[in-house]
Amino acid sequence: MEWNWLMSERASVRSVIIVLVVLVSAIAATVVLAQQQTTDSPLTGNWVAPSPSNDGYVRKTYFNLKQEGAKISGTIRATQFFYTIKESTGGPDGFTLIASMQDGKSERRVQYEGKLVGNELHIGRRARPDAPITEQVAQRAPDGEGALPARIDPPALHKVKDNGLARTPPMGWNSWNKFAGRVDDATVRAIADAMATNGMKEAGYVYVNIDDTWEAGRDAQGNIQTNKKFPDMKALADYVHSKGLKLGIYSSPGPNTCAGYEGSYGHEEQDARTYAAWGIDYLKYDWCGARTLYTDEEMPAIYQKMGDALLKTGRPIVYSLCQYGRLDVWKWGADVGGNLWRTTGDIRDTWDSMSGIGFRQNELSQWAKPGHWNDPDMLEIGNGGMSDTEYRTHLSLWAMLAAPLLAGNDLRNMAPETMAILTNAEVIAIDQDKLGQQGKQAWKSGDQEIWTRLLSGGATAVAVFNRGKEETKVLVKWADLGLGKKKNVRDLWSHQDVEVAGAESSVMVPGHGVVLLRVK
Ligand code: GLA
Repeated sequence: MEWNWLMSERASVRSVIIVLVVLVSAIAATVVLAQQQTTDSPLTGNWVAPSPSNDGYVRKTYFNLKQEGAKISGTIRATQFFYTIKESTGGPDGFTLIASMQDGKSERRVQYEGKLVGNELHIGRRARPDAPITEQVAQRAPDGEGALPARIDPPALHKVKDNGLARTPPMGWNSWNKFAGRVDDATVRAIADAMATNGMKEAGYVYVNIDDTWEAGRDAQGNIQTNKKFPDMKALADYVHSKGLKLGIYSSPGPNTCAGYEGSYGHEEQDARTYAAWGIDYLKYDWCGARTLYTDEEMPAIYQKMGDALLKTGRPIVYSLCQYGRLDVWKWGADVGGNLWRTTGDIRDTWDSMSGIGFRQNELSQWAKPGHWNDPDMLEIGNGGMSDTEYRTHLSLWAMLAAPLLAGNDLRNMAPETMAILTNAEVIAIDQDKLGQQGKQAWKSGDQEIWTRLLSGGATAVAVFNRGKEETKVLVKWADLGLGKKKNVRDLWSHQDVEVAGAESSVMVPGHGVVLLRVK
């Protein structure tokens, strides 16, 4: 019995040893194989390059690479983009990747250049072929980290009920044009202070809108968090409301915003509830990261989702669609609950950008109506890139277009002339006319254009634009504008009634300038 036991003990010791030997050799073989793999194809793997912002939010670029001999394939995920590598040259000591993604109807291509330095990947891209490379340092990341989330199919389309807001084009301020990623709580409060006291509020500007870069990640329950720049959004909303103003915020239907911050993807209702709980009055919803998961044709359903979510909160929240005018958004923006929709790419503070956008809006006039507006983007008035004459054209043109008037400059210290332009009550009255009819081009000859806009009470706004550089005389033939019998004319920039006798008037219009008239 005892002997037997001893025998079986010896047998089990032996089998344990055998199992151990097998295990150890298996592990050793795996290690050798893995080593061989990293030496044969050291670029293979998931790499992450973090770029921290001063607000505590860390944007991460993921390079998920597979190296097979001289070929590198895989994907690159950066801010709002997700690229597939199409071509590669070189190897660990220096390589170039050409990657591309489908963005609506167009293809986006990027080129990255990199090399392996020890255990790090030094990799970067040039903004232009002749620009210096902006290098990032990537470390190995666990498999799957940074992968695109699974696609949630868009809902079936239905008509979202009108929220009853924005019966005239929204007016206010937005942080992006002047402050971009530098906007913070203190700045927003100071802007609200300025707006409430410097005449802007009296002129009709109400919304104080925070654009991109306020976001952090999400908590364990999936609630969106604010980053260091915005310690307490509810307190900020209370403050802005205490000034008799309203607070706006920004997000994206994608996993990431344009600046690469956290988007609302998969959290639409939850985010809408958070905004309502904070006391938010306006949402700008920017396509950006959604392009990694959806086609342009799916935009209406995706925008409808947030339209529904906002309505469901029960709080009046103006809904601003920002998808750069793709898929003829003016034809469906109102149906998905939109109060306004961007009709173009981003404005810049230059004459070419502003006038290019503004004068291109002629075809869209039929789609604007109370509650639902074409949005040719925010104002650049006072940002310094144009002359005051050009800024007067900017406001006049936006007023003729019944466009939202969102100042984009630093309202805390404005030149008197900037202030006078932004608060010209007679021009604002054109923009805010309750008939809500967008103006149209009525006449054009070379660089000179006359636009008209029908106003409530039978008046008409007439804008004589000179897109040329030199001061020019323009002959206004009243009958051609359908204004033969109307002769009560007021100049809305000189604030004077104008004597008009006869069928024609000649007006001198400065280069890049405007003469804006109200005719009754
Ligand atoms: C896009 C929008 C801009 C602004 C930025 C923020 O470019 O068109 O108006 O919101 O994103 O990242």
